Amino acid sequence: MRGIVLAGGSGTRLRPATKALSKQLLPVYDKPMIYYPLSVLMLTGIRDVLIISTPDHLSLYQQLFETGAELGLNIEYAVQERPGGLAEAFLLGADFIGDENVCLVLGDNIFHGTDLGPLLRAEAEQVSGCTLFTYPVSDPTRYGIAELDRDGSLVRLAEKPISPSSNQAVTGLYLYTPDVVDHARALTPSARGELEITDLNNRYLGEGRARIVGLGPETVWLDTGTHDSLLAAGNVVQLLQHRNEPVACLEAIAWRMGFISTRQMVRLTRNYPEGSAVATYLAGLLAREPLGFEAFA
Ligand code: G1P
Repeated sequence: MRGIVLAGGSGTRLRPATKALSKQLLPVYDKPMIYYPLSVLMLTGIRDVLIISTPDHLSLYQQLFETGAELGLNIEYAVQERPGGLAEAFLLGADFIGDENVCLVLGDNIFHGTDLGPLLRAEAEQVSGCTLFTYPVSDPTRYGIAELDRDGSLVRLAEKPISPSSNQAVTGLYLYTPDVVDHARALTPSARGELEITDLNNRYLGEGRARIVGLGPETVWLDTGTHDSLLAAGNVVQLLQHRNEPVACLEAIAWRMGFISTRQMVRLTRNYPEGSAVATYLAGLLAREPLGFEAFA
């Protein structure tokens, strides 16, 4: 499976923080926002990643991750010239996707949960159309919403409905079969000239090929769309990490997923100042390495 992180947009709701900086590079507690969605792809088992951003900002992501090799990833980059909608990611990524399944994650979505990795890996094994992940929210007018019938079957998907008939938000994490590229090509741009992800997902629903997976209370989905929610997200991450529950620690995930060797992991710990929280956490993980940290130092 291939992975796309969409880190475009102009982040107008977060001005002036986003005036000179890409929204998805703003820090959420101790790391750039994009670390969080990238960690989700890695937990799904994905190593081939395409990062899409604006002409002004793409080089910043290249500076941050380079080829991805340090994390055992293969990261490619593509420009979205102007805000063309979330579904445009599949046109920009058509060659990258080829004939593989693909996971799209929005660059401003934060997911956390100890069971999330196994859940996503299991879902990635059985994609047959599109798979959407829902989460209950208190303000459904701000999201794509899944309307379910009494049996919990998906009836309709609506983008930011004025009178929502459900509180189940469709989160910014989507799995698709490779025909997503054809579906995206067939979309008509919305009134604001964009290819809407909800229109795309409704095409799968029309074919009876849209699957809904509800994320339960054991998962946290955090919004970063406003100054308040961004700050709140940072506070949640801080709280979790102070409880020794690291969130989106890419080095640790890469190592646990077997993307990098212990020797590479030891090298990565040196990117952080000695005694810092991350260095201490990584050293703690390595100390439990059966062959012993010293064997690889
Ligand atoms: C987008 C999607 C929406 C989804 C949301 C999740 O909205 O259009 O369907 O629920 O992401 O973060 P945006 O946040 O770009 O307005």
